[in-house]
Amino acid sequence: EWTTASIVDEQIGRIRTQIGDGRAICGLSGGVDSAVAAALVQRAIGDRLTCVFVDHGLLRAGERAQVERDFVAATGVNLVTVDARERFLDALAGVTDPEQKRKIIGREFIRVFEQAERDLKAKGDYRFLVQGTLYPDVVESGGGAGASNIKSHHNVGGLPEDLQFELVEPLRLLFKDEVRRVGLELGLPETIVHRQPFPGPGLGIRIIGEVTHDRLETLRAADAIAREELTSAGLDRDIWQCPVVLLADVRSVGVQGDGRTYGHPVVLRPVSSEDAMTADWTRLPYDVLERISTRITNEVSEVNRVVLDVTSKPPGTIEWE
Ligand code: XMP
Repeated sequence: EWTTASIVDEQIGRIRTQIGDGRAICGLSGGVDSAVAAALVQRAIGDRLTCVFVDHGLLRAGERAQVERDFVAATGVNLVTVDARERFLDALAGVTDPEQKRKIIGREFIRVFEQAERDLKAKGDYRFLVQGTLYPDVVESGGGAGASNIKSHHNVGGLPEDLQFELVEPLRLLFKDEVRRVGLELGLPETIVHRQPFPGPGLGIRIIGEVTHDRLETLRAADAIAREELTSAGLDRDIWQCPVVLLADVRSVGVQGDGRTYGHPVVLRPVSSEDAMTADWTRLPYDVLERISTRITNEVSEVNRVVLDVTSKPPGTIEWE
């Protein structure tokens, strides 16, 4: 009988054996897998682990604070945050094609992460790289919700070519629900342990059109409202995720406050799913939809229309890009 506590003990023992007195790096994405992997390794080797968090500027409201404040408070981990917001905006300037965006974000991410690795290697004997690979990823080899032919998925912490690291994968034998239990056992906050999936390219693939600073601010504000209302309605565990998508190149006429507006629509994309391979659009209660719509159009001045995506997957993918 494997209890969660015994999984934790066993993994800590294995990690100690593997790493010895060496040092390890772990990329944090804000997601549950990398957080739990890092927390386990932290328990095993303490401050010989350094976590790296890249802020690419495509995060949702509060996500950086969740890593820098809540995760650090829960684990005591050494954290290096790389502020790469300008760099990503520059690289994405003028780009509207979804696959182009994905490739650029993935490429820049690896460059930034590799630089952080080099900086750490210059300071200490960092020979190990921690990754939050789960059992289903190992079996399917590649993973990424099986959509790799349709979209080029991007995940955190790819292995650089020119730097030699030995991989540490403490979640290799675990399924997602076990990872969450391990996370709770290690004292991680519920907000991290039960976080819904969020794509590596972040809000960059939820702005239809060019990604700019102002558009990101608009989408971040609308997304925060949708998440707040879904959470306070107690719906977080019922839905798989609810992307909010900004149709940045579409405008429509509206009337807000004192007069005519010519603003942008946002799309709500609530989905129910088991594994993201297929999904159904979630029948959210009308009163929740109404609150989200009213608040977004009142509080986000650039948005004057909220629409609901009622497409299953297939034919629609979950993300719009
Ligand atoms: P799609 O849009 O392909 O999304 O139906 C399926 C699931 O995968 C998430 N997603 C990603 N996750 N890197 C990730 O780590 C990515 O590049 C990426 N693209 C999509 C999406 O949010 C959904 O849960």
